[in-house]
Amino acid sequence: MSWNPDHYHLYTDHRLRPALDLLSQINLVAPSVIYDLGCGTGNVTALLSRRWGEATVTGIDSSEEMLRKAAQDHPSLEWKLAEISEFAPDSKGNLIFSNAALHWLDGHETLFPALLEQLGAGGVLAVQMPNNFTAPSHQTLYDLAQSDEWVEKLGALIRPAPVHNINWYYDLLSPLVAHLNIWETTYFQVLQGKNAVLEWTRSTALRPFLSALEGDDVSRFEQAYADILMEAYPQREDGSTLYPFSRLFIVAELPGD
Ligand SMILES: C[S@@+](CC[C@H](N)C(=O)[O-])C[C@H]1O[C@@H](n2cnc3c(N)ncnc32)[C@H](O)[C@@H]1O
Repeated sequence: MSWNPDHYHLYTDHRLRPALDLLSQINLVAPSVIYDLGCGTGNVTALLSRRWGEATVTGIDSSEEMLRKAAQDHPSLEWKLAEISEFAPDSKGNLIFSNAALHWLDGHETLFPALLEQLGAGGVLAVQMPNNFTAPSHQTLYDLAQSDEWVEKLGALIRPAPVHNINWYYDLLSPLVAHLNIWETTYFQVLQGKNAVLEWTRSTALRPFLSALEGDDVSRFEQAYADILMEAYPQREDGSTLYPFSRLFIVAELPGD
């Protein structure tokens, strides 16, 4: 399953805003070791480095395509090809940051405590994850993949919603940290272009399904999904499409020395 750096940047402003909202809630003054998990093409990693210029900032991602673009655009930062589930750095972090990546991993009940263990005293885990899995854009995709026509080829790709509700993260993390800032925001996104929600999901939720298909199946599945989306998210007379999108944020701070 490959990522497409160019397509992911189609809606840069909408995708960047939650990262900036997360960044604005981190109160660290001078972290010296920062990790950006699931850094993608590194545009947010570069913002971390710009804010904390003295820090060693390492972007970590399992996609060669994304990291290649990151290294090309930001050659002065450190990039590491690795799996988040196996994250065990030599140096403990002062900040572990992850924007729009941890929802690709299952088992958050063990993943989150394991990430906290990779922080030094007073360290911060800052995470943003999409939480839109029951929205029509995602639910209709799963329904289509489970329909009689597609279930044999695509049914195995359906995962239970990877992101839990906000209370669940509070219960999991509050006993482990000194301070927990946790919130949800629904961004009322105004997208431009024809079938804009299809274009949005093409670089994220739809990607694993198209990657699993071959030949004519790719365009047939995409067209069936496109038709559903056009009804669920009609284009307005002014050319825009309204796409509400929920995201969950966590800033968890360990006790100091
Ligand atoms: C939606 S992009 C977000 C990129 C970046 N954080 C940003 O805000 O622009 C998700 C990234 O997470 C990476 N990713 C997903 N699952 C991963 C895993 N298990 N280990 C490492 N990286 C992963 C993908 O390769 C992709 O680059």
